[in-house]
Amino acid sequence: MTSDRKPEIRWSPTLEENSHCCASLLAGTAGDAILSRGRFTLALSGGSTPQRLYELLAEEPFFSAIEWPRVYIFWGDERCVPLEHPESNYRMARESLLDQVPIPAENIFPMPGAAEPEEGARQYETTIRRFFGLRVGNEFPCFDLVLLGLGPDGHTASLFPGSAALKETQRLVVASPPPTTVRPPVPRLTMTLSLLRRAGKLWFLVSGPDKEEVAAAIIKRAAGSERFPAARIRPEGDCIWFLSNCRRDLYGDETFGF
Ligand code: 6PG
Repeated sequence: MTSDRKPEIRWSPTLEENSHCCASLLAGTAGDAILSRGRFTLALSGGSTPQRLYELLAEEPFFSAIEWPRVYIFWGDERCVPLEHPESNYRMARESLLDQVPIPAENIFPMPGAAEPEEGARQYETTIRRFFGLRVGNEFPCFDLVLLGLGPDGHTASLFPGSAALKETQRLVVASPPPTTVRPPVPRLTMTLSLLRRAGKLWFLVSGPDKEEVAAAIIKRAAGSERFPAARIRPEGDCIWFLSNCRRDLYGDETFGF
């Protein structure tokens, strides 16, 4: 069952303003999750767009607003490189956020980028299932919040157009061959559509004119937009598109500006 709920749009002229808006909403979301469930499970996006958000979360007022020992960090995808490699999504998040906040090391679950990709995917699936206490089978966990990016080709996480990973319906994490449309051209690990769509909240962070048409097509469910992997998620929970440094008029008048 997938949701037909319309996504919310949070548009800002600049990535700086949009990152502040996202940080503020994320701090509130973390507080709500911790209040009702005692913890906040967050899957981070890779790429460059979320870096400013991560840096802001490590600064006041967000540093003190979030109860970091009750936050649990996962990744939606990773490049198959060592964790300290310049292209590692883990390294970017560690340097911009995780090293700056009092989150216990045991609350941080990097994807095993240095492992053989298929083995790494199986390892991370086991890590997620064990954390959520799920038996093997068709049980899917619900992360409180999943952050995703978007490529100009409509990819998200490491789900690329035409990828076999888009057909996976049972697994939580799969390996994906090196993409041909974006850098770096290395194998990837990625959460699957089946896992991503079950997030309690799913937020896209998208900045730049090179993505504005694709984002608009996905948001408005334009004819043919199903060819974009990000359109295939069809989130069951609350979905917000944080958009910046792009045209506002493309997204309809229900856009919330900041
Ligand atoms: C990755 C990401 C990927 C990214 C988009 C947008 O590992 O690269 O998970 O899906 O979010 O490619 O990347 P930018 O934010 O750098 O534009």
